[in-house]
Amino acid sequence: MPFDTQPRGAAAQESRSPTVDWYERATRELAGHSALHVAWAAGVAQDDDILALLDRLPRDRRQPSLIFSVATWLGAAATAYPQFRTWLLEHWPEVESAARQRRTQTNEVGRCAPLVAALARVPGPLALVEVGASAGLCAIPERYSYRFGDAPRLGSGAPEIVCAVDDPALVPSTLPDIRWRLGLDLHPLSAADDPDAAWLEALVPLDRPDRRERLRAALATARQDPPRVVAGDALAGLAAAVAEAPSDLTLVVVSLGTLVYLTPEARAAFPGAVRDLGARLVTLEQSGIADDTALPGRFVLALDGEAFAEASPHGDRLSAL
Ligand SMILES: C[S@@+](CC[C@H](N)C(=O)[O-])C[C@H]1O[C@@H](n2cnc3c(N)ncnc32)[C@H](O)[C@@H]1O
Repeated sequence: MPFDTQPRGAAAQESRSPTVDWYERATRELAGHSALHVAWAAGVAQDDDILALLDRLPRDRRQPSLIFSVATWLGAAATAYPQFRTWLLEHWPEVESAARQRRTQTNEVGRCAPLVAALARVPGPLALVEVGASAGLCAIPERYSYRFGDAPRLGSGAPEIVCAVDDPALVPSTLPDIRWRLGLDLHPLSAADDPDAAWLEALVPLDRPDRRERLRAALATARQDPPRVVAGDALAGLAAAVAEAPSDLTLVVVSLGTLVYLTPEARAAFPGAVRDLGARLVTLEQSGIADDTALPGRFVLALDGEAFAEASPHGDRLSAL
């Protein structure tokens, strides 16, 4: 490590800002996601000058992933912390301004593998509404292709999404037959918009060329016929979104890593609201958010609230429960 990882002194502990805790926690939460972001978070957690700059931002704008994505978007390179720190100090006014405007809206197409596995359990043809859709890249899962474990490739589109499975019963044999779709997001992005696409790319860590390549392939596929994503709240806007769906299709509401952003009250009300609209519900969320499992730190795939698999957060692994 290029920096001191010793615990800070007692005096510093007493006056420490919550931002330190956030960046220290990020060193654990981002492990397995990006070694680069872990190193940057560890460096920031030890760096009083950078912490003082971060503390000028509104609290929700100090988020490690947001700051690192903004830096990437503005041209920071994949360097060790000392060089990153120098870059941050030199570019702070731009970083501060972008951090006040941008949001973390990572559109992770790897999650389409669990989604396809869940949709295989719902008789189609389907009308799909994705809440928290970002640019809607997960609302077009049938346009990509998949390798589930050793099973033959499913589909022919790009990108090819690879998903390890520990139970053949989880492997779908068909792609979903989606005849109508709509994304709903508080702040919709568009795959067809160059600045939006550049921001989506910056949300992927620089040391994950695999994910960046997959995202670029998905954006290219999406641009041939961009999915429609409209502005609206997952709960308050759901009925209006669903009202547009043709009534002869099986309606499925999908939430992938989104319900966590809702208030506890809205989260609790969400499954009932979906049920009242006569829709099926597919969720890939942290354990316990949309199902009755208690697997701290794990992501769970559920259909109508019934958990049937545990998954890695970005969908590249599915394990039967
Ligand atoms: C982490 S991104 C996930 C995007 C996509 N579901 C995926 O898995 O690739 C979460 C998205 O939810 C949106 N969001 C957050 N709160 C929301 C709400 N109350 N209603 C609708 N969208 C919301 C954010 O704007 C963001 O685009």
